[in-house]
Amino acid sequence: MRFRPFGKHGFNCSEIGFGAWAISGSWGTQADGDSLAALNRALDLGVNFIDTAAGYGNGRSERLIGQVLRDRAAAGKSGKVFVATKTPPAPGNWPPSPYDRADERYSEAYLRANLTERCAHLGVERIDLLQLHTWTRAWNRQPTPFQVLRALQREGRIGLIGISTPEHDQNSVIDLMRGGWVDSVQVIYNLFEQEPAAELLDVARECGVGVIVRVAFDEGALTGKFTAETRFAPDDFRAKYFEGDRLARTVARTAAIASDLAGTGYALPSAALQWVLAHPAVSVVIPGIRSIAQAEANCGVSDLPPMPPALVEKLRRHQWRRGLWYGGK
Ligand SMILES: NC(=O)c1ccc[n+]([C@@H]2O[C@H](COP(=O)([O-])OP(=O)(O)OC[C@H]3O[C@@H](n4cnc5c(N)ncnc54)[C@H](OP(=O)(O)O)[C@@H]3O)[C@@H](O)[C@H]2O)c1
Repeated sequence: MRFRPFGKHGFNCSEIGFGAWAISGSWGTQADGDSLAALNRALDLGVNFIDTAAGYGNGRSERLIGQVLRDRAAAGKSGKVFVATKTPPAPGNWPPSPYDRADERYSEAYLRANLTERCAHLGVERIDLLQLHTWTRAWNRQPTPFQVLRALQREGRIGLIGISTPEHDQNSVIDLMRGGWVDSVQVIYNLFEQEPAAELLDVARECGVGVIVRVAFDEGALTGKFTAETRFAPDDFRAKYFEGDRLARTVARTAAIASDLAGTGYALPSAALQWVLAHPAVSVVIPGIRSIAQAEANCGVSDLPPMPPALVEKLRRHQWRRGLWYGGK
């Protein structure tokens, strides 16, 4: 496993982190025993960064992580593991509407109470990295929640402060980075979603902000294992994400990437992760991991040589601006 500086924050994170959403049970049936085994295997292979959230199984993911860290400490396994979790806004629109008020959705009383709950679920006194789970650009001019989080940081209850981008407006976090409000950003950046390379990633680098890349596999599609006939369990969120003709369109585009990889020696999952890691602003990529086999496959990618620049460039042609209708399907 290779390590990279987490922005300017004096800590080196493993290139591959552990995305802990699927172990919450929102991706179809998941046995806690498999999740614990996957977490332990990833940590044994050098992972020192885990990403979770309050909303992942209503604390189930956080509790499993807390259990693993306690068990490992009791077994004498040392080594700091950096845990990032997320606080959602108080109930209401998701993502927040531009007409919502920051000091209502993320009030001081709410943020303080939520932090206490995060600590209880993880079994810690202090959160290494607390991220706001979503945001609206409308709050950039008066980002009051971050004033509260900076106060909590001064009180020693939080290590670092971050934001997870709203999918529809990832660039809304650029002003927050420039304003010095956030220590890290969590962003969707993958072979399809390349827009962060336009500005966001460079600004993060300029500002010494840690960059956590999520959804590197486009929710599994960029591993190349789906076909147009793949069906997801009704309690797997991907039944909705890939509904209608979305899966068939995604599979066709994934096949085009696979044909660009022919003869390069890369399998799709390794290429998807290595392509993300090729951007120098990226601190850690956090593939979702739900089994020992996935922990081993994904951690192993960090041991490969970096992707040759010519291939990184060639694969840029697979950018897919799904949010817009102007280009048609
Ligand atoms: N708003 C937010 O802040 C937000 C949103 C999304 C995600 N996240 C974070 O980012 C992490 C990563 O995103 P994600 O989990 O949504 O999606 P992802 O990383 O694109 O896809 C992960 C899924 O791909 C499959 N997989 C993983 N490794 C594989 C391999 N080597 N070969 C084949 N299949 C493999 C697994 O599911 P199956 O085995 O079931 O196919 C896994 O759950 C999350 O876990 C979470 O921590 C944050």
